[in-house]
Amino acid sequence: MKLIQVRDYEEMSKKAADIVISYVKANPNAVLGLATGSTPTGLYKNLIEDHRKNGTSYKSVRTFNLDEYIGLDGNHPQSYRYFMDEHLFNHIDILKENTSVLNGKSENPEKECERYEQMIREAGGIHIQILGIGRNGHIAFNEPGTPFTSRTHIVKLAESTRQANSRFFQSLDEVPTHSITMGIETIMESREILLLASGSSKAEPIRKLFTEPISESFPASILRKHPNVIVIADQEALKDTD
Ligand code: F6R
Repeated sequence: MKLIQVRDYEEMSKKAADIVISYVKANPNAVLGLATGSTPTGLYKNLIEDHRKNGTSYKSVRTFNLDEYIGLDGNHPQSYRYFMDEHLFNHIDILKENTSVLNGKSENPEKECERYEQMIREAGGIHIQILGIGRNGHIAFNEPGTPFTSRTHIVKLAESTRQANSRFFQSLDEVPTHSITMGIETIMESREILLLASGSSKAEPIRKLFTEPISESFPASILRKHPNVIVIADQEALKDTD
């Protein structure tokens, strides 16, 4: 894993955007894997700004998001489809049909998992996957204990994850109990992975990412086996890492 140390959230977002923009310019048919949450919103802001100023085009880019809550449709303000439309897709020239987010309202979530895997395969795999990291080391919604061999699957969310995400809902009760997520093996097949971390709440998971043995009890640890991972972390997130 390559570590890029930055000062703060702004610098992390700018560095990540520079990498994505250069890639998209060189590869107009890029296949991007995208994340939601607080971590990548600054990256998306930078992509939008650059698109407006410099005209970087996403007309032939395809995207696959990591995960979606089960039970929320794309019009629900807390669905990840809605998040992506609001924070990125509505503001760049990407074609909506080229953006894929798992369908949380699918009548057959198992089939939805297979459909998604097939779509990723047909797109030729993900070129750059953006990741955040959970406090318990989760990547996407792959909680501790998820097999490293997992493909896109349905998960029961850990209480700690529901609680962390409840800040976006009116109450904890409204936070869905299940989600669909890309599996760890699916993520590991991406050609390049960009993991972003900012703030002191990420200090412990970032320390563990670099020091803990590779184990399913800390899902992000598997990234150490990937040949092409860049971690961009700020001072606060690195405060416990030597
Ligand atoms: C989001 C996702 C999650 C988040 C993680 C960190 O699509 O898959 O794994 O990356 O929970 O969330 P934030 O960025 O809100 O700290």
